[in-house]
Amino acid sequence: MKSRKIIVALDSNNLNKTIKLVKKLKKDVYAFKIGYQFFYNFGLEGYKKVYSNCPKIFLDLKLHDIPNTVEKGLQALIKMKPLFTTIHISGGDDMMISSGARKKNTKILGVSILTSLDSDQTKTFYNHKNVSALVKKFAQAAKKNKLDGIVCSPKEIKYIRKEVGKNFIIVTPGIRISSKLKSDDQKRVESPEKAISLGANYLVIGRPITKSKDPLKTLKEINKSLI
Ligand code: C5P
Repeated sequence: MKSRKIIVALDSNNLNKTIKLVKKLKKDVYAFKIGYQFFYNFGLEGYKKVYSNCPKIFLDLKLHDIPNTVEKGLQALIKMKPLFTTIHISGGDDMMISSGARKKNTKILGVSILTSLDSDQTKTFYNHKNVSALVKKFAQAAKKNKLDGIVCSPKEIKYIRKEVGKNFIIVTPGIRISSKLKSDDQKRVESPEKAISLGANYLVIGRPITKSKDPLKTLKEINKSLI
């Protein structure tokens, strides 16, 4: 049995290298994540190159604007047929409602509090020092407004899962391989096995796979650890 829960983040400025990597890894991933770096470098053309090799894409563009603008943006984005895309929960109830989650093949995931904000920053910008309480509130709002799921840090999975029930999709970045659980710029990391056991559905992993000596071998090892 194969486990496919890994979404490999294609954060790169090199299109040819990226496409080679997609070809190498596509049988063993759940999907590939395309974010700001790849999309703003290579646009729709680059997206289509990845899509034609592997049509399972998480297009992570974190939309945040007035409801009408987000709705129209999403209508265009959904034509690219990604599996998942993202909007900011802090865009408000109307913005989430107008995203029309659950009516389309593309699942809409909510971004809660950016993991780069510490409690001083959340106090400044959200008037709240307790990050967990804020994240809980955001998860409830995402569920109430019928988003399909949420992106959260590994440290938040357990209490978010409690808050949103079993059918809500939880996607988690900030994953580091068990044997070398030291952080680089990711501050609140967890191993793949732990993140899945805490209740995540899918894990976004970038550099631990893409920068490893043998990305396919690393990916296969992670998959094996999740069976
Ligand atoms: O290389 P690494 O495994 O850190 O990549 C993680 C991916 O997940 C990156 O594309 C990054 O933008 C994204 N991400 C994150 N932390 C968040 C949200 C998204 O690392 N809180």
